[in-house]
Amino acid sequence: MKIAIGSDHGGFVLKSEILKHIQSKGYDVKDFGSYSVESVDYPDVAHEVSEAVAKGDYERGILICGTGIGISIAANKIPGIRAALCGDCFSAKASREHNNANILAMGERVIGVELAKMITDIWLATEFEGGRHSRRVDKIGDIECRYNRG
Ligand code: RB5
Repeated sequence: MKIAIGSDHGGFVLKSEILKHIQSKGYDVKDFGSYSVESVDYPDVAHEVSEAVAKGDYERGILICGTGIGISIAANKIPGIRAALCGDCFSAKASREHNNANILAMGERVIGVELAKMITDIWLATEFEGGRHSRRVDKIGDIECRYNRG
């Protein structure tokens, strides 16, 4: 599975840990930055990673900022992106099973590294359940189309 990962300065430390962690598990990961704790704007990173996922260059994306909020809001502006901000394992699993989330967002200032690794492992390993959930996820796409964004 090809994964795109990115963060702003507020998520740089956690992003570095998650990058190492998933590389050690054998995932093929591209790091879109940031590459230091120097201040950058989270919408820029969200845009780059989300576009790469929406185009199909990467199957999934992981985005990290201080809270995970700004970067997930920005990611969800890109048509085809379903970014889920997760701070617990239950939500991580459900975001894949029910919402077919293609981006996982987390907040470095909110959760610890070990929890973030568990959330990431579960999120990467969980498949979309389809069925009734497909109809609902398709309706998200319909909303995008209604605003000429699909
Ligand atoms: C940066 O200070 C911070 O605002 C950002 O990382 C994020 O938490 C925004 O939602």
